Amino acid sequence: MALFSRLWFGLTQLSAAQHRSFSVSTAASAIYKMTRVRVVDNSSLGNTPYHRVPRVIHVYNKSGIGKVGNKVLLAIKGQKKKALIVGHRMPGDRMTPRFDSNNVVLIEDNGNPTGTRIKVPVPSHLRKLEGEYSKVLAIALRFV
Ligand SMILES: *[C@@H]1O[C@H](CO)[C@@H](O)[C@H](O)[C@H]1NC(C)=O
Ligand SMILES: *[C@@H]1O[C@H](CO)[C@@H](O)[C@H](O)[C@H]1NC(C)=O
Repeated sequence: MALFSRLWFGLTQLSAAQHRSFSVSTAASAIYKMTRVRVVDNSSLGNTPYHRVPRVIHVYNKSGIGKVGNKVLLAIKGQKKKALIVGHRMPGDRMTPRFDSNNVVLIEDNGNPTGTRIKVPVPSHLRKLEGEYSKVLAIALRFV
């Protein structure tokens, strides 16, 4: 009987955990820790096939929620690499369009982009954010 109740307790915990992760991923499809992202520049690091999809391991914003214009730290091919969010599935505030994927551009510690082209359109309101992103915007081909 004791064994059965322990087992039952374990199952209840498991289903609570599943429920939690399910509601997080549907309710808030913003970019947060562990979100899988798509590298949309043409850097070789971002374009060689991955064994594991790159994931966010830190969002550089106190809220922990990453939006267009925020920097994140990625785990990509066994390395840690900074990236800039240039699109997300979550409907954005104001003029940010909704994308089919969570898009990032790899950047160096000094803010320069790692690649030399961005392969997808990026939100034009990024241009209104401060000059720190001008080198990334310079490699974008299209804006939406
Ligand atoms: C990125 O694109 C540019 C222009 O098409 C090209 O010159 C460069 O070699 C590409 N970089 C990589 C890593 O493919
Ligand atoms: C960072 O998070 C705050 C909320 O804590 C939010 O208001 C702000 O827009 C975020 N920064 C960016 C660049 O989105």
